Amino acid sequence: MQYDPSLVRRPAGRDSDLPEPVSFEEVFAALPLLHPTPRSWAELAAANLPEFLADHAVCEQQVAMYALSLAGYYPDDAELVERTAALAAEEVQHFRRVVAILRQRGWPLGGRRRNRWAQSLRERIVPGHEPWTKVDRLLFGALVEARSCERFTRLLEVVEDQEVAHLLADLGPAERRHWELFYRLAGRGGDADALAARFLHWREFEAGLARGLGVSPTVHG
Ligand SMILES: [Fe+2]
Ligand SMILES: [Fe+2]
Repeated sequence: MQYDPSLVRRPAGRDSDLPEPVSFEEVFAALPLLHPTPRSWAELAAANLPEFLADHAVCEQQVAMYALSLAGYYPDDAELVERTAALAAEEVQHFRRVVAILRQRGWPLGGRRRNRWAQSLRERIVPGHEPWTKVDRLLFGALVEARSCERFTRLLEVVEDQEVAHLLADLGPAERRHWELFYRLAGRGGDADALAARFLHWREFEAGLARGLGVSPTVHG
């Protein structure tokens, strides 16, 4: 999805070198999320950018690996293999971009760490129950992308660092496009209402997790 200029709002007094901010409310309304991240999380993340970016890099790396794992699970699904491989390549570019910023600034790149939100979500996937396992793997991907888009948009509201603001302004729309892709792949050949009902359970579960978050300066913290 291309950047939509109709969503642009420029609050008075904002630095003209920062990217045009988008309206959080409008972006949120287009996402499948049921609980908005509080603005206080963005203030915490903006005040702790080394920690946020180190975690962000790992998120990009892990979603790339997850997308490739889907291609590995379903090698006979030509469309899924092509789309998830392309998505993984895009996430690797995101990863490299975040790593470049960390390196330029002499900030450490974090390694693997516990992501309770992602772990709790992923535990809902039950292996060996096809075709639903595949659907759930794709719905999990959709929610990861949607929450990342939401968090980037939230942080973009408050971050003063120009380089990070430009990064978030580019990546937010990409992650939005990705959740839509995962959802579309999940719905191929199935009943749209049944898919929406199944996704609603996922969305409600995710909202329950999200209500306990917003207290750590990480992408899903
Ligand atoms: Fe990404
Ligand atoms: Fe993504």
